[in-house]
Amino acid sequence: MARRKLIAGNWKMHKTVAESVGLAGQVATELKNRQVDVLVAPTALALAAVASRLAGTPVMVAAQNLFWEDHGAYTGEVGGPLIRAAGASHVIIGHSERRQFFGESEKTAGLRVAAALAAGLVPILCVGEALAEREKDQTEGVLESQLAGALAGMGAAGLGGLIVAYEPVWAIGTGLNASPEQANQAHAFIRSWLAYRFDKKVAKATRILYGGSVKPANAAGLLTQSEVDGALVGGASLNVHDFLGIIEAI
Ligand code: 13P
Repeated sequence: MARRKLIAGNWKMHKTVAESVGLAGQVATELKNRQVDVLVAPTALALAAVASRLAGTPVMVAAQNLFWEDHGAYTGEVGGPLIRAAGASHVIIGHSERRQFFGESEKTAGLRVAAALAAGLVPILCVGEALAEREKDQTEGVLESQLAGALAGMGAAGLGGLIVAYEPVWAIGTGLNASPEQANQAHAFIRSWLAYRFDKKVAKATRILYGGSVKPANAAGLLTQSEVDGALVGGASLNVHDFLGIIEAI
């Protein structure tokens, strides 16, 4: 069976609760393409309100991060069961901005993946190389160590619909997207690694999204690649017309 495409909007640290509810409502009302899955990731603050606005619509909700403990004295953190209870079904893990600004590592990404699965959330695990790593031809090594670290100890049966997002760091927020061929090549590598580490079935079923300066104008080129199962969109997801433009490009 063909993998269903997924277009996810990562709103990062943008929009008030009211603005988030408004944007979510616009996405749901104006969405025409029902052949793809659509998901939005508001701030933790807006998660519950957005989920409640989107209840009964096909648009799903993700958190942008989670802590690996369920409850407890962890000031400032939010755990999986709280996120699930707020109405989210997915959670982004290991985004390069978390790695860059908040010291996250493969190990903490792994703890978060396990916590997400235990809470019944689908993890969207982000991996991707920096520019210097690509220039030194280290892309595959970086992807492999990020995947191996975050999925250490996992079995094929417990992956809970895991989604991988390939987000080359040099393409995030820079306007420099990977070419469709570069994206497809990295995705093919990730898929072959999944087959080697788990099995062919996992490799075939796992959706691999591309993220990094996806816009309506470049979406079709990227999304028609055989290994690209969707997009994780940052900046362009903050504008309903751009986000829907990407969705309609499929
Ligand atoms: P941009 O689309 O703004 O480059 O961001 C991509 C991203 O980081 C999505 O998670």
